[in-house]
Amino acid sequence: MTAAAEPVERYAFAQSLARRAGALANGYFRDRERLTVELKGPQDFVSHADRDVEALLRRDIAAAYPGDAFLGEETAAAFGGSLDRCWIVDPIDGTHNFLRGVPYWNVAIAFVEAGRATIGIVYDPVHDELYRAQTGDGAWCERGGESRRLHVAQTSTLPGAFVGFGHHDRAPSERHLAIRRRMMAEGVAMRNFGSGALQLAHVAAGRLDGFIELELSIWDAIGALLIVEEAGGRTLPFMPEPVTAKAACVAAAPGVFDAVMRLVDE
Ligand code: IPD
Ligand code: CA
Ligand code: CA
Repeated sequence: MTAAAEPVERYAFAQSLARRAGALANGYFRDRERLTVELKGPQDFVSHADRDVEALLRRDIAAAYPGDAFLGEETAAAFGGSLDRCWIVDPIDGTHNFLRGVPYWNVAIAFVEAGRATIGIVYDPVHDELYRAQTGDGAWCERGGESRRLHVAQTSTLPGAFVGFGHHDRAPSERHLAIRRRMMAEGVAMRNFGSGALQLAHVAAGRLDGFIELELSIWDAIGALLIVEEAGGRTLPFMPEPVTAKAACVAAAPGVFDAVMRLVDE
């Protein structure tokens, strides 16, 4: 492998990896009655589907790129590497939906160099929609063998804007409620579809005008934010400190980004 060819190869590898992981996850989704569900904490579920999909991701990455670091949600507590040449994955983002048979979940994969995502993949296996971006190469959605270039929405005013507002139900949040009230006052149509990465991909696709989540993990956000940026969207710089902590995630079409930020900051 030549040094020049490597980035393209990684990007192609990331896409095929997402499809393999998605196929495994989707098999579990169809047969979900057989899953043993554990509680990691209040309203925080995990099953062996999450763990098996993460194991596949880790194994295939280690086989293809043995020198790269790996950070996965289900093994994050053991992460001691740096965010350089590091794969960051969420094997199933939207686990609560997954376990309830709601077809809104995804496999999220990012490749990060010197702290910045250079590849982002969000794969929704139920609808066979693979969202992808590589720095400088635009954002794309593959569906049914066709590639479609993604562009964020043209929306320019907050009233009537369609904005995802994520929140994990673990902890009540006064700040979340205050933003929700401001959204109502401004006439924003608010949704929470229950998967951070897929909602961000849907901002890239123009299905949503924006997405906010006050506390999101790096594996939910970092690759999907690259997809939004490559689709022409604007994002709040995102980097939790330490890396396994949570940080605020905001992304929106350029015409409403400043107004969305005012909702968050006021
Ligand atoms: C969760 C989902 C959810 C978001 C939470 C995340 P998980 O990830 O993205 O939409 O509100 O903050 O933790 O647990 O389904 O991988
Ligand atoms: Ca997640
Ligand atoms: Ca997860």
